[in-house]
Amino acid sequence: MSWTVRAKISEVSLLDINSAVGLNTKSMFDKVYGAQQTMFITCDVTSGNQLKDAFKKTTENFLQLDIVCNNAGVGNETNWQRCLDINLVSVIRGTYLGLDCMNKKTGGAGGVIVNVSSMAGIYPVIFGPVYSASKHGVVGFSRAVAGASAAESLGVRINVLCPAFTDTPIMKSISSPEMLGQFTGLDQLAVQAVAALGIIDPSLVAEGFLQLVTDETKNGDVMKVSKQKGIDYEKYSKSLW
Ligand SMILES: NC(=O)c1ccc[n+]([C@@H]2O[C@H](COP(=O)([O-])OP(=O)(O)OC[C@H]3O[C@@H](n4cnc5c(N)ncnc54)[C@H](O)[C@@H]3O)[C@@H](O)[C@H]2O)c1
Repeated sequence: MSWTVRAKISEVSLLDINSAVGLNTKSMFDKVYGAQQTMFITCDVTSGNQLKDAFKKTTENFLQLDIVCNNAGVGNETNWQRCLDINLVSVIRGTYLGLDCMNKKTGGAGGVIVNVSSMAGIYPVIFGPVYSASKHGVVGFSRAVAGASAAESLGVRINVLCPAFTDTPIMKSISSPEMLGQFTGLDQLAVQAVAALGIIDPSLVAEGFLQLVTDETKNGDVMKVSKQKGIDYEKYSKSLW
């Protein structure tokens, strides 16, 4: 599932541009939690209006928003502007919409936002320069806005999740011409990177996600998830001054 807004612990609003994927995910959730607990909204996260509308529908239906996960992402060095729009601009917009709903200073009940970056947001990935830039942007933006939220006492924590290669559909096109754009000649580097790092199970990423949501000491934290080290955190100096 690409992008989720979650309201209350047991109520989830799922968003994706791909209705088939979204409805399939909803039906799996329905079997476990019941049909009323989950809603699916078809949404292109690059559309400001569609995203705003999805937050509105979610809060109207579930009354309160507690957790936001900005997760939609693509690799596309061919249409690299769309890659930036989906991976970075929409994450910024989703974060601000989440803050609008949860900000304690404007009537919200507080909450937590998890923005999905990647190991490519910490290390340069040479076969995906724009993907890497977008994910570095998610890390930088999230750390800065987390500091702003704390300094302004908004009651909203913002953390970043950086998985390594994970067993999801995106992996099928990791060395495709569309993914690599002008760097299709580096396709074997992509294949070698996967062979060297391995592919992790999504359940480990889910475990990391839950830690970022539930551990109230985490704000502006950047979690890495990898086959080699499991769940660990990137260390940064807190401030320039
Ligand atoms: N799988 C990996 O190896 C890996 C590693 C690091 C980070 N990530 C990141 O994890 C996140 C989830 O990716 P995934 O691995 O589940 O891949 P995925 O391809 O299975 O999921 C991505 C989803 O995003 C949706 N999407 C694409 N464009 C959209 C748009 N404009 N609006 C709404 N939804 C849109 C797609 O329909 C798809 O369901 C992404 O941000 C990705 O960059 C994945």
